[in-house]
Amino acid sequence: MTQLSPNFWQEKFETQQTGWDRGQASPQLMRWLADDVFNPRNGQRIAVPGCGKGWEVAALSEAGFEVTGLDYTPAAVAEAQKRLREAGLQAQVIQADVLTYEPAQPFDAVYEQTCLCALTPDAWIAYSQQLARWIRSGGRLYVMFMQVSRPGSQQELVEGPPFHCDINAMHALFDQRQWRWPKGPLTQVPHKNGLFELACVLERI
Ligand SMILES: C[S@@+](CC[C@H](N)C(=O)[O-])C[C@H]1O[C@@H](n2cnc3c(N)ncnc32)[C@H](O)[C@@H]1O
Repeated sequence: MTQLSPNFWQEKFETQQTGWDRGQASPQLMRWLADDVFNPRNGQRIAVPGCGKGWEVAALSEAGFEVTGLDYTPAAVAEAQKRLREAGLQAQVIQADVLTYEPAQPFDAVYEQTCLCALTPDAWIAYSQQLARWIRSGGRLYVMFMQVSRPGSQQELVEGPPFHCDINAMHALFDQRQWRWPKGPLTQVPHKNGLFELACVLERI
């Protein structure tokens, strides 16, 4: 499968086909912040890969974290930087490909929201290995697994983005040798595009 290019996403931004964008930070992130699930005592340095317009970068920065947003699309980087500048926030947004980016030092956490599902599935192993390298031992991966398949619709499984993050496939991708999974069912987070995400916090072993 050919990787999607920054041009593909640039056109989406330029033609306002950004149906994934909530126009505000995800309610799940805000809940995690309110409930202290995101706690600066667990570390300050957080990356937000594929950060798009930067709503979550801004929310995390406002909550006092040292945030690095990453996106390889110029329009996304420009919009996220503008948002931060206008809000007087210190977070940085770097134009980089998540498949090749190497942080100078490990992150305490990554907030992953619809970057995985924006990558073609043949890049998922490489991306999950990147996340495992980026996050220090004991650090956290806050992840929203996008659910795309609907009953009776196999078509949705192959056509993306967004690509369906089947939960069994996610267990194989973020495997028990590297990640500690929570017990119990994952929280369903409805998305305005009619789909939903499964919210999950994984701990890097
Ligand atoms: C579906 S959007 C999600 C944006 C944001 N996370 C949100 O939920 O609003 C996917 C974003 O990932 C970015 N992206 C896709 N592939 C990427 C890659 N290989 N490296 C960096 N950014 C990438 C796109 O430019 C786009 O901004």
